[in-house]
Amino acid sequence: ASPQALPWDMRGLRVVVSAGGTREPLDPVRWLGNRSSGKQGYALARVAAQRGAEVTLVAAHTVALSEPAGVRVVQAGTAQELREAMRQAAAEADVVVMAAAVADFRPTGSAAYKIKKTEREPDPIALTRNPDVLAELVADRQPGQTMVGFAAETGDAEGNILEYARAKLHRKGCDLLVVNAVGEGKAFETEDNDGWLLAADGTETRIPFGAKSQLAVAVWNAVLASRSRQS
Ligand code: CTP
Ligand code: CA
Repeated sequence: ASPQALPWDMRGLRVVVSAGGTREPLDPVRWLGNRSSGKQGYALARVAAQRGAEVTLVAAHTVALSEPAGVRVVQAGTAQELREAMRQAAAEADVVVMAAAVADFRPTGSAAYKIKKTEREPDPIALTRNPDVLAELVADRQPGQTMVGFAAETGDAEGNILEYARAKLHRKGCDLLVVNAVGEGKAFETEDNDGWLLAADGTETRIPFGAKSQLAVAVWNAVLASRSRQS
């Protein structure tokens, strides 16, 4: 979407978007991470700024991306850093969008020095749960604040993508859940995305296959629609 094509309909709205994948250190030179590129979160931030919003982007690790114009960028490496940055930014936001891929677990301890290989077999990596940032932000939400979660689902023997997504929307208590179908080269590290937008009122909208900027436009449209239903 070119800037000219976008309406200036988010003027005065304060939004915070998280993007990218957290990295959980094992030692000073190694981490546990994930494949998130950050492109979807950056597209959301860029489009919101183009529509006149006041945007804070909390960026975990991403591929090389140019900073969106007119956006305040805060870096966050680990899930715990991202939690702090999101808490601060969310305190003054009308809309919170959690597009980041937050590691569910982190190594229980990070070694102060580089782990050396020895003659022994290596120890298994012990893991601890990370905080659920979105769940915490929903629990502490300001009145009138709109909360948006993301879910990347593959479906499996136990259930299909939409069944998992509906359960996640209710579990997280957010107003909107953006569901990406992943696997088979979809979503991660690509320019295109497809999926569904699930709203807390039961509305389910198919997002046509297209650029991440198009998905960003659809998400912000849904946010504005949800806010106008509330007021
Ligand atoms: N999320 C979060 N903090 C975490 C894990 C996830 O804030 N520790 C957020 C993500 O940013 C996303 C939403 O929660 O907006 C859903 O993330 P997802 O990984 O799909 O859900 P989980 O609850 O972690 O469930 P699972 O990974 O088992 O599917
Ligand atoms: Ca997860």
